Amino acid sequence: MNSMCEIVFIDSAGRETRVHAQDGETLMAVAVRSGIDGIVAQCGGALACGTCHCYIEQPHLDLLPPPSEEEATMIEFVMEPAANSRLSCQILASQVVDGMRVVVPGSQH
Ligand code: FES
Repeated sequence: MNSMCEIVFIDSAGRETRVHAQDGETLMAVAVRSGIDGIVAQCGGALACGTCHCYIEQPHLDLLPPPSEEEATMIEFVMEPAANSRLSCQILASQVVDGMRVVVPGSQH
């Protein structure tokens, strides 16, 4: 049986969108199919574009597996990287991320 979790996306104006995600879906896929502005995901999850960049709020940030070396390197090239920057194509929905708050940048280039 598949389980669902809830994720809250927050745009640059502070508007919240609550969406349900299936275990195993990437956060990027959830954002794209939910029409979340600001998650562009140009490379389709190949860890090559950085346009799926987002900021993960605590306490969930610390519950996630740490970024791979490739993800960490790509984050250095996004606009306005921060300590809680992650690439949403590298984060999988699961019960661990239930209720996670994800801040989406105003624009991605
Ligand atoms: S979708 Fe391109 S790096 Fe995540």
